[in-house]
Amino acid sequence: METRITQKNSDQLKPKPTDESNLGFGDIFSDHMFRMDYESGKGWTDPRIQPFADISINPAAIGIHYGQEIFEGLKAYCGSDGKISLFRARDNYERFNRSARRMCMAEVDIDLVLEGTKQLILLDREWVPKSQGTSLYIRPTMIATEPHLGVRPSNEYIFFIIVGPVGAYYKEGLNPVKIYVEDFFVRAPIGGTGEAKTAGNYAASLLAAEKAKEKGFTQVLWLDSAEHKYVEEVGTMNMFFVIDDEVITSPLSGSVLAGITRDSVIQLVKDWGMKIRERALSIDEVISTAKEGRLKEAFGTGTAAVISPVGQITYKGEDHIVAGGQMGKLSQKLYDEILAIQYREKQDPYGWVEVID
Ligand code: COI
Repeated sequence: METRITQKNSDQLKPKPTDESNLGFGDIFSDHMFRMDYESGKGWTDPRIQPFADISINPAAIGIHYGQEIFEGLKAYCGSDGKISLFRARDNYERFNRSARRMCMAEVDIDLVLEGTKQLILLDREWVPKSQGTSLYIRPTMIATEPHLGVRPSNEYIFFIIVGPVGAYYKEGLNPVKIYVEDFFVRAPIGGTGEAKTAGNYAASLLAAEKAKEKGFTQVLWLDSAEHKYVEEVGTMNMFFVIDDEVITSPLSGSVLAGITRDSVIQLVKDWGMKIRERALSIDEVISTAKEGRLKEAFGTGTAAVISPVGQITYKGEDHIVAGGQMGKLSQKLYDEILAIQYREKQDPYGWVEVID
């Protein structure tokens, strides 16, 4: 394994966004990217930082035809002292390698890609936005590039990391979202690829999400694929409910993505002495406790949105207002705490934050 990362700087730097209150999500990219290439027998070669540019792929590439592709999403933050930090980056790359194993792809050397991530961010450090709620989104990606139309794992891959400044993921920001309980389409079955961060899971979610949007909802609440009975994820996020004084989230039983924010929320809630259970929760229980006034809060968690409070759940044509349609107390407390740790305003007792400069 070659570990020296070479660097070729761009001679045409792009203008940086001037208005940090209007970054949106996923449209702006920095001046450089990290890339390396894989071939069976040779392993990963030529790790390099290069100018951000289009990539050329053979039209017969396996990744294009059969979806052998995985990615990650993580963020870098600028603290008030101007230092840049990463949040649980190693956990993201460990999940990346789990996704790689599930999709029969080549694993990466975590130390090498962490080093590449840091080198790229430091080179493009002027792209890390400074205001609260903004960050540099980091997107490591692997695609199968071998030209071959038979269905089998590729012998060639490219791995790259692109980065760009982002604000809120949803246009609602922290305002509670309306969600539609999807009782026909499913996101992922147990034994499928739901645990992997792979393109096909997101492609499979689009039709239900578009139909929900047409009806005025922000996101879809996914139910399990076998019985259409148990709540699993919301949109691209993990889902939490507070019923009475207990916080409940779906177990990682094979169809749910092991979210890093999900894990951070579980840890924080435990440390605050609250009851938390990872258990199967039926949509009927959610609705009946909502009717009885026992469903105190519901919220989604993910790297992109951090915490996304749910203000309304619509199931079988009936609307159920959650937490009076407002952001609940726990959602707000978790959001404040996670951001305070990420921006290093608060001490991090968990070892989640790594200052890179
Ligand atoms: C996240 O919330 O981190 C996600 O995975 C969303 C991403 C697909 C934009």
